[in-house]
Amino acid sequence: MIVVGLPGDPGVGSKLASCLGVGYVSVFSKRFPDGEIYLRLPQKVEGSDVLLVQSMYPAQSDRLVELLLALEVLSRYENRVNLLITYLAYARQDREFLIGESVSLKSVVKALTTYEVDVLVTIDAHNPHAIEKAVESGRYLNIVPGEVFAEAISRKYRGREITVVAPDRGALSRAQSIANHLNCGYIAVQKVRDRVTGRVEHIFNSLNSISELAIVVDDIVSTGGTIAGIASYLTSRNIEVVAAISHALLVGDAYERLVKSGVREIYTLQTVPQTSANITYLDIASYLARELRREGVVK
Ligand code: R5P
Repeated sequence: MIVVGLPGDPGVGSKLASCLGVGYVSVFSKRFPDGEIYLRLPQKVEGSDVLLVQSMYPAQSDRLVELLLALEVLSRYENRVNLLITYLAYARQDREFLIGESVSLKSVVKALTTYEVDVLVTIDAHNPHAIEKAVESGRYLNIVPGEVFAEAISRKYRGREITVVAPDRGALSRAQSIANHLNCGYIAVQKVRDRVTGRVEHIFNSLNSISELAIVVDDIVSTGGTIAGIASYLTSRNIEVVAAISHALLVGDAYERLVKSGVREIYTLQTVPQTSANITYLDIASYLARELRREGVVK
């Protein structure tokens, strides 16, 4: 097997290849003068099983085109193709909330899996159940690295009373995965979103059950509004807040917003390029190698 890094690979592919003890190559890609993307796979890929690695942030639409171009090449070879998307973009629009809205998750997953992908692997995708339904062919695996977060957090906060807090019920399994490894409790805050304005409101029903240190978890931090809203509320009640976010997109002044809201520390995964020197990016390669072996994705 060979690991093939696409242009959006945030450095996971080569580390993963060395953990798996297999080769790594990156694709050649350039722009035509009009902006279109050209992509060529190295010749030695022909005849080997391939694990394609891509992150779809930033430049989500370009990253999608690169995936489609690479899958088209591989569809002409006789090899098994697995796809690891460390950050799957277009995943939050997972249903039609307002009439006429495009369900972007469906179109992206369908487009990718019309090609023969043996296993599509994502890391802490926004809604794995909706992805599973949209997959056209092959198997789907979503890896939630709660253990990676828990190890880092317990190294620093060992002995503290901790509660893991999810910003909505959809994030409960994510919170549970970290809490199980930290051996602590977890709760979900109630989230109400105005579908027209996008405004989000959080309702705290059971504040009494939150310990002196809250680990607020989410799949994505984009503008920082969700985490900042929760953190402001908790810190104003003397609860310390640490954030554990799988994909740190950190758009605009998101980091400053989080700090201003009282977030003491931010942990994230290396699923998108590192853009901030002030947050802790956790290496996921060896964890992924172990999970991919355990799940039989790689032998
Ligand atoms: C939304 O449902 C996601 O799970 C995140 O909560 C959201 O994308 C966070 O965005 P922001 O940082 O802009 O509040």
